Amino acid sequence: MDQIVIKGGRPLNGEVSISGAKNAALPMIAATILTGGAFVFQNVPNLKDIDTICRLLADLGAKTEFSGSTARIDTTGLDRHEASYDLVRKMRASVLVLGPLLARLKRARVSLPGGCAIGARPINMHLEGLEKLGAKISLAHGYVEARAERLRGGEIFFDIPTVTGTENIMMAAALAEGTTVIRNAAREPEIIALADMLNQMGADIRDAGTTVITIHGVKSLQPVSARIIGDRIEAGTYMVAAALTGGKIRLAGVDPSHLKPVIHKLREAGAAIESNDTVITVEGGGAIRSVDIKTLPYPGFPTDMQAQFMVLMSVAGGLSVISESIFENRFIHVSELRRMGADITISGNHAMVKGVKRLSGAPVMATDLRASASLVLAGLAAENTTHISRIYHLDRGYEAIEKKFAALGAVIERVPSV
Ligand code: EPZ
Repeated sequence: MDQIVIKGGRPLNGEVSISGAKNAALPMIAATILTGGAFVFQNVPNLKDIDTICRLLADLGAKTEFSGSTARIDTTGLDRHEASYDLVRKMRASVLVLGPLLARLKRARVSLPGGCAIGARPINMHLEGLEKLGAKISLAHGYVEARAERLRGGEIFFDIPTVTGTENIMMAAALAEGTTVIRNAAREPEIIALADMLNQMGADIRDAGTTVITIHGVKSLQPVSARIIGDRIEAGTYMVAAALTGGKIRLAGVDPSHLKPVIHKLREAGAAIESNDTVITVEGGGAIRSVDIKTLPYPGFPTDMQAQFMVLMSVAGGLSVISESIFENRFIHVSELRRMGADITISGNHAMVKGVKRLSGAPVMATDLRASASLVLAGLAAENTTHISRIYHLDRGYEAIEKKFAALGAVIERVPSV
C-alpha cells in the first residue's frame, strides 16, 4: 500500500482547480438507471468511488467508458437488479441504486451497506420512504429485497434530513404514479444538482434545495448530458490549507455560494477571503483565532469539513469546541492528530481543541476519507516529516491530491510503502 510523505512548514501559494463533486456525481450516475439510453457527464472526478459505482452499473448490464473527466454511460442493456455485497461494502453510496432500480425494473436486491468507520449509518429512512411509495421491502441474508409493480406517490417525512435518502426517494418518485412530497428533505447543493438533471430528463421536481420537495411522477424519462458541479468539500480542504500554512490560494471550479458556512468560519478564524461568482481566494498569515463549530445539515457547517477544520484549530490561539452532530463516531482522526502534538480532549460528541504552537511530523494512519484529508493538512503545517499510511481512503474522494498540493509549493510525494 502506498504512503504519502510530507515535509511540512511551507506556506502554500498559487491556484488550484477544483474537481467535480464526488457526492454529486454518485447520485447522478445512479440516476442513469432510470431510463435506457446514452448519457454523457462532463467534469467527472477521477476517484475510486466513481470507479466503484461504474463497476456496479456494469454489473447491472450498463456500459461505461471514461476519457479524461468525461464519462459516457449507456444503460440500454441494463437488465439486472442486484448490487453485490462486494461492491456495496466498498462504498455505502451504492445504496443509491435502490430507488432507480425499483422505478425502472420494479425490483432490486441490494446488499445492506453495513457500518463504516464514522458510524452505523443505517438506511431505515430510505426503506421506509420507498415503502411509502408502495414498495414491498424485506431483509434477508444481508440483502434488501424490494419489489414494486407500480410505485405510487406518497407523503414522506424524514426524522433526519438524510442526503442519500432524499436522493433515493427523489429518483424513485420521478417515475411513480401521482405526486410525492418529501418533508424535512436534505438541502445540499448536490440534491439541487440531481433534481436539475432529473428535470432535464423529463421529470417534474419542484423546490429541491428547500426542506419540502414535490415530485409529480411522469411516465418516462430521457437520457441527457450533464456537467458535475465543483466539489465544495475538496475546495474547503484547500481553503483550510491556505489559512493553516499562512499562504494564499486561489480556487477555481467551485461555486462560492456552496461554501458560505466554511467561508464564515474561516473568516472568524482570521483568514482573509475574497470571492466572486466563480473564484474564491483565501489568504492566511495572520494569527489563527480559535472558533467553535457545530456540524449541521446544509446550510450549516458541513460534517465533511469537521476534521479539516479541527487541524486549523489545533494550532489556533485559544480553545475551540468542535461539536459533531451528524455522525456518532467522527473523531477518529483525533488520536492521530494527538500523535502530532495536538492537544484535544473528547467529551461525547464534543472535541475541546487547545491550540498549540506547532504540530510535529510523525508516522500516522488514515482511517476514513475526511480524516485522511485532515492528516495531509496536519503534515503540511507540521515541522519535520509526516508519513501517512492507508491512503486508499484519500483516493476515494480527492483527485490527485499530492499533485495539487505540490503545485502549490508543498513538499509532498506518494511513495510505495516498504
Ligand atoms: C451523505 O451521506 C454524504 N455521502 C456524506 O459524505 C456526508 O457526510 C453525509 O451525507 C452528511 O452530509 C454522499 O452524499 C455519497 P445522511 P449519507 O443520510 O447520505 C442518519 C463523504 O465524506 N441516517 O445524510 O449517508 C445517518 O446515520 C461522505 O463524502 C439514519 O439514521 O448521510 C447520519 O447520522 C461521508 N437513517 C445522519 O442520518 C437513514 O436511513 C445523516 O446521514 C439515513 C441516515
